[in-house]
Amino acid sequence: MADLDGLKDGKDFGIGIPVKEKPFFLKGSNHLDWGMQSRLSRLFNPKSGRTVMLAFDHGYFQGPTTGLERIDLTIAPLMPYADVLMCTRGALRQTVDPTLGKPIALRASAGQSILTELSNEFISVEIEEAIRLNASCLAAQIYIGAKYEHNSIKNVSKLINEGMRYGIPTLAVTGVGGDMVRDARYFGLATRIAAEIGSHYVKTYYVEEGFEQVVNGCPIPLVIAGGKKIPELDALTMAFKGIDQGAAGVDMGRNIFQSESPLAMIQAVNAVVHELMTPEKAYQMFQDLKSDLTRA
Ligand code: 5RP
Repeated sequence: MADLDGLKDGKDFGIGIPVKEKPFFLKGSNHLDWGMQSRLSRLFNPKSGRTVMLAFDHGYFQGPTTGLERIDLTIAPLMPYADVLMCTRGALRQTVDPTLGKPIALRASAGQSILTELSNEFISVEIEEAIRLNASCLAAQIYIGAKYEHNSIKNVSKLINEGMRYGIPTLAVTGVGGDMVRDARYFGLATRIAAEIGSHYVKTYYVEEGFEQVVNGCPIPLVIAGGKKIPELDALTMAFKGIDQGAAGVDMGRNIFQSESPLAMIQAVNAVVHELMTPEKAYQMFQDLKSDLTRA
């Protein structure tokens, strides 16, 4: 039986001190449940409000592309420097050390390859599996303007519906439809649709013209993909411009793991994203780290 002797009545109720209601730090996320906000706080650094997601999920349709032939050798050393790891459940179980404690953005779609129609995806991961893997978010492509646009919206909606039951956010990944022009109008349309159907954040591409309109027309956080490999200074410049114009981070793959020095690059990207380091300084940091690493 509980010991009820000596119970003391509470005295200090802080009468007159209002309870502090702190608004949640991510846009569009204030009314989400505690579990959702907790997971989003793992995905985005609450201090900077931003994230560096290291994407290495490409193999689910590209196979062993350059830099991902041996994830255990090339990507594992980069993982400690990322805020979030974006990968398939296969790569997760095969190559990610569970003691690392990094939040996982789980690629939850599949169904096509580089040899077929890219927009023809389905949801390949059950919600129970995502919970078993302790995923911090679920990700699938939204292919606006593509052949299987309708199906891709259904896929993302399925993740949102299932994730909402268990407090797991959904990342909608804008896959560019066949004949679409990659401009602010297109990404404005795709990211807004992603937000309106209930996604919790969205990945898109940076565009030189009108990116601020894309960001401001999208009521949820938006992260930018790196896209195909470009010179390091250009990739850092793109990341800087994206962040400066309101992106909440990067979801970068090839421009990190195909860099001349992936370890140096991920640290330079981190400085741009979290400290808004200028591209020139970040590039110098990249060069310095690269030569240190070569000497070591
Ligand atoms: C593949 C993806 C990738 O995660 C995404 O494209 C980011 O990688 P990269 O920076 O190489 O573009 O969603 O479908």
